[in-house]
Amino acid sequence: MTPAADHAHVGRNVVLGVAGGIAAYKACELLRRLTESGHDVTVVPTANALEFVGATTWAALSGNPVASDVWDSAHEVPHVRIGQNADLVVVAPTTANVLAKAAHGLADDLLSNTLLTARCPVVFAPAMHTEMWEHPATQDNVATLRRRGAVVVEPAEGRLTGADTGKGRLPDPDELFEIAAEVLARGGATTAADLAGRHVVVSAGGTREYLDPVRFLGNRSSGLQGYALARTAVARGAEVTLVAANVSMPDPAGVKVERVETTAQLRDAVLSAATSADAVVMAAAPVDFRPTQVAESKIKKAEDGSAPELVLEQNPDILAELARDRPRPATVVVGFAAETGDAHGSVLDHARGKLARKGCDLLVVNDVSGGKVFGSTENEAVLLSADGRSTSVPQGTKSALAHAVWDAVVARLEAETA
Ligand code: CTP
Repeated sequence: MTPAADHAHVGRNVVLGVAGGIAAYKACELLRRLTESGHDVTVVPTANALEFVGATTWAALSGNPVASDVWDSAHEVPHVRIGQNADLVVVAPTTANVLAKAAHGLADDLLSNTLLTARCPVVFAPAMHTEMWEHPATQDNVATLRRRGAVVVEPAEGRLTGADTGKGRLPDPDELFEIAAEVLARGGATTAADLAGRHVVVSAGGTREYLDPVRFLGNRSSGLQGYALARTAVARGAEVTLVAANVSMPDPAGVKVERVETTAQLRDAVLSAATSADAVVMAAAPVDFRPTQVAESKIKKAEDGSAPELVLEQNPDILAELARDRPRPATVVVGFAAETGDAHGSVLDHARGKLARKGCDLLVVNDVSGGKVFGSTENEAVLLSADGRSTSVPQGTKSALAHAVWDAVVARLEAETA
């Protein structure tokens, strides 16, 4: 089961708007994921979208009738009913034209009417050529829609329709589904995008410290929690930079992903992204020590059976450095602590000491006694705050824990601006 799908409420009314771009074919896969999760999906393609993928495909995959203009089945007043009944509207792909119409409140076809009558969360997944995406007109329209509470997912970078490459690709449909599931699971109105206008940085995975070109010191961190943090932040409207250390999962939709290997690379990437961040969440597990020297070629076994001597030095503590030299005084700095209780104290005793030592604002404490958490899709934690408060997050998905972290971050950010 996917991380988000297992806590999304099933059987909701979802409108899948499809605009006229070549990426319309990828929306078929998104539609499948939505219907397979038990949602009742009404597809509303524009007339141009039907040039790319025909109504028969949408009707067969959704199990519902398909219309693109307001004159079809006029007795059912579809231009009002579809939007009013929706729990979520996802427009994928969204063209520059549909963004412009939505931003300006035009209503000349069924999709634009639906966007005006919907009172539920709306997710736009734009896909277009880089020039069109970067044009100030498009960027102004995106800013307008985000200000009104819509989630506008940043396009992915890569190969575009022709031979050219750049920003403008529709993100992977599976990842768009995760965003849709996250928004649905949160429910509510458009105010669910409470991280709109915020830039958040998340680190994920585990670093590696190489002994030679093929061997390294590493750890068991899977990156799942960091990826859940990135996805949930997108679903709440944030601009997200994810610094991923040795994670093989695909890029989450709408996220700027920087891939790193070592603790030094993680530090550089996090500190550089943090200069414009409202919050930094260090979910990665950096290896604390590195060999003082990395052999240029593979270390050979000694004939006498002896093992090579490893001389290690300590890596910098990125979290402590961020908390000490805050890029901006208002940046919220969040750490994770994987703890086990021992003869010197309980899990929480150790965590309180760590919060104080690191100087961060929030510490997410996982009890990892007996190998719990690593690689699992479930998590349970306590959120410790620098002011002494603690909140228990019961056993649940990593998405649920991620939302609890963002709830705490939003509360701090709002308290600062109040
Ligand atoms: N962390 C970091 N830089 C490091 C080590 C850890 O930024 N070099 C961050 C992790 O991303 C996490 C937090 O610090 O958010 C806690 O990591 P943990 O490994 O539990 O802390 P350590 O400092 O290694 O503490 P100890 O080994 O003493 O328990």
